[in-house]
Amino acid sequence: MNVKKAIFPVGGLGTRFLPATKALPKEMLPIVDKPLIQYAVEEAVAAGIEEFIFVTGRNKTAIEDHFDHSTELETALLTKGKEEALNLVQGMIHSPGSVSYVRQQEPAGLGHAIWCARHQIAGEPVAVLLADDLILGTPALKEMIDAYQSGNMVAVMNVPADETGSYGIVTPKDEAGQLVTIADIVEKPDPEVAQSTLAVVGRYIIEPGVFDKLAEGRKGAGGEIQLTDSLAARISDVPFLGLRFSGERFDCGSKLGFLKANIAFARSRPELRDDIEKWLANTLLSQK
Ligand code: G1P
Repeated sequence: MNVKKAIFPVGGLGTRFLPATKALPKEMLPIVDKPLIQYAVEEAVAAGIEEFIFVTGRNKTAIEDHFDHSTELETALLTKGKEEALNLVQGMIHSPGSVSYVRQQEPAGLGHAIWCARHQIAGEPVAVLLADDLILGTPALKEMIDAYQSGNMVAVMNVPADETGSYGIVTPKDEAGQLVTIADIVEKPDPEVAQSTLAVVGRYIIEPGVFDKLAEGRKGAGGEIQLTDSLAARISDVPFLGLRFSGERFDCGSKLGFLKANIAFARSRPELRDDIEKWLANTLLSQK
């Protein structure tokens, strides 16, 4: 089944990156030279997504401006003959009307953010991408959409046993290739009670029934309305699969993950690779 719409929840406060995120949305923090949110949008485009729904909050207008024309900038680049830069900024603009913004007026959880986009979704499956989870290599959402038939699907990977309290954790039933049939999902279980170490990474395909569950407004872990709980509530009604994606995931919601991502993405760029690798090697050598 075709998945043509994607929701990007971008309402979070980004307190872990203060003071950088006092006036700047955390999704605008750059990995090398591109904001996190742009990587997520490009992953969606690579998966065939045609409509982009951002669930924003206060102080997030920089995201709206980022995906819009900047007439002054484009005129200046044109006048100065900076064609490459001009193509770059113009190439990011999506067709008129395909990008929309919904405000989440209160930080009531990921599930609540998704539910805020319900009027944009007309009874069809929709992708959800969390920009904090950055994937290097094969675009994970494309792998998911290629394998998707119906029901709900999440991207999954194994995490260290002491980190289950940071993720939605699934109980796997069967495995076939990259696909895992999921018997249960729990939001952020303590390691002592976690049923596995198979964690949800921020890529989802959700069916309309999830919105019905979200509408009930039940609070879960952390007193927030959790997407995980609505997925769990649909398990007896529709198929629920996990996909072990091929790319390398960086947790850009943490400082360490963000720094690692900057280095890994720099190494993946031909024009930076040699210099960054030389610098890394010298830095490590000089410490021995
Ligand atoms: C959210 C989800 C969690 C998921 C995680 C992936 O948590 O609630 O189930 O495993 O994203 O990054 P958050 O990181 O927003 O606390």
